[in-house]
Amino acid sequence: MSNLMKLLTLVLMLGASGIAKADYELLQKKNCFACHAMDKRKYGPNFKEISVKYATDKNATTYIAKKIKAGGSGVWGLDMMPPQAQVTDAEATTLAKYILSLK
Ligand code: HEC
Repeated sequence: MSNLMKLLTLVLMLGASGIAKADYELLQKKNCFACHAMDKRKYGPNFKEISVKYATDKNATTYIAKKIKAGGSGVWGLDMMPPQAQVTDAEATTLAKYILSLK
């Protein structure tokens, strides 16, 4: 492979992982990891098990985006997720898509 090709491949790889990294950082910034982890149980369900649960649900993005903003309980147990007022509608959709892609 020529050096130019190597460089282009690297730039493309960084571009793709850069998007996932930005979404991950949004989860950090919005304090979601206070109660959630990527793949093990914390206070709330982990993000991988959430994406598996909704894998065949066509309306999952809308549902999850709303739930992130409004919070709630009763789906995973009796623990309560408080409303996340620091999350905008657009951020909720971004986070919902990211979480649902983790499976
Ligand atoms: C104070 C703790 C807490 C914080 C902070 C929190 N969550 Fe939750 N989350 C929970 C609990 C508890 C549940 C389970 C609720 C249920 O069973 O309905 C949950 C459930 C979820 C679900 C699954 C919803 C469903 O109906 O299946 C998603 C997605 C989610 N949280 C995303 C987030 C995101 C994104 C953030 C950050 C913006 C966040 N959570 C912040 C506690 C929290």
